Amino acid sequence: MSTKNSVRVAPAHVAAIAPYQAGKPIEELAREHGLDPAGIVKLASNENPLGMPESARRAIMDTLSGLGRYPDPAGFDLKAALSARYGVPQSWLTLGNGSNDILEMVAHALLEPGSAVVYSQYAFVVYKLATQSRGARHILVPAMGLGHDLPAMLDAIDDDTRLVFIANPNNPTGTYLSNQALESFMAGVAARHGTRVTVVLDEAYNEYLEPALRVDSVDLVRRYPNLLVSRTFSKAYGLAGLRVGFAMAQPELTDLINRVRQPFNVNSLAQAAAIAVLHDTQFLAQSFAVNRDGKAQLELAFASLGLEYEPSFANFVLVKVNEAARINHELLRRGVIVRPVTGDGLPEWLRVSIGLPRENQRFIDALTDILKLSKK
Ligand SMILES: Cc1ncc(COP(=O)(O)O)c(C=O)c1O
Repeated sequence: MSTKNSVRVAPAHVAAIAPYQAGKPIEELAREHGLDPAGIVKLASNENPLGMPESARRAIMDTLSGLGRYPDPAGFDLKAALSARYGVPQSWLTLGNGSNDILEMVAHALLEPGSAVVYSQYAFVVYKLATQSRGARHILVPAMGLGHDLPAMLDAIDDDTRLVFIANPNNPTGTYLSNQALESFMAGVAARHGTRVTVVLDEAYNEYLEPALRVDSVDLVRRYPNLLVSRTFSKAYGLAGLRVGFAMAQPELTDLINRVRQPFNVNSLAQAAAIAVLHDTQFLAQSFAVNRDGKAQLELAFASLGLEYEPSFANFVLVKVNEAARINHELLRRGVIVRPVTGDGLPEWLRVSIGLPRENQRFIDALTDILKLSKK
């Protein structure tokens, strides 16, 4: 093919995007290292180690025969279930193909070249991708420790800023912001900028927080017309592969987001399964308990290995191993997949998703072995 024909014309801001690095799939590692996939432990994508609940499987089976038709573009039944659960009208809800879709839709609806987006250093990487894809400018606010510095983020909002992304808890750091901190941030934005700046509060890991720590984000949405809260069914609800999330915001903002939403963005199986898991309080309680216990198991092991870690409020723990690239390589050789976070600006750390007790133990044993050999 001639060079002339292979030239692609794309905006510079799109060509400059570094693609998202997903957790390594089990099959890929098995191929690369000649390992048995059944013996590989994957603690790399913050998935629910319990897998999909039985309630969702049943709902999916009941929905299969209808797959010749398009899904309900309005997601009426799922929105009705969410409306009953959270006490907000259906006109305040947007469904997404995962909450990633919600984040992209907000960026699509609000940003253009020349506009700016405020988010924290070490914040979830999709904020950067969504900003870049619209040709907008980011204002990266230095983290406080590894968490968001909300007062500095408030001060960083400039005349071009249309959007602020906040993750609570944040990925990959697992850090948390209190109700009070978010309250005063929202009040500060309102006092200085009115409703000109939209705030996205990304609560993908909300269900893993101790109930007493959960921010009353529905109340915040009722009080602030410039706030959008996003949630997902990918984590504590165990439906990562189906791709379904949702947003709560007042109708004017919701209406705007819906203008850029693909009409059939959430498939029928995902809608049916999400309704089922929303009612499956037993599964959610089990997800919470497995995560709480697994977190204690990992944190205890890190402490006894003398490793620094960031206390986590989510379903993963960030641990400082210094030579992260080498240790990650050694873990992979032993059939354990975790997540290097060099791309997030944390080259000495690894992010470990919390698994089942035996999976956590496999990882702990492998890490202990590697550290012992390194000392020799
Ligand atoms: C902070 C945060 N927000 C949003 C998402 C998107 O998840 P999903 O698109 O599966 O809902 C993730 C996924 O890892 C995340 O960590």
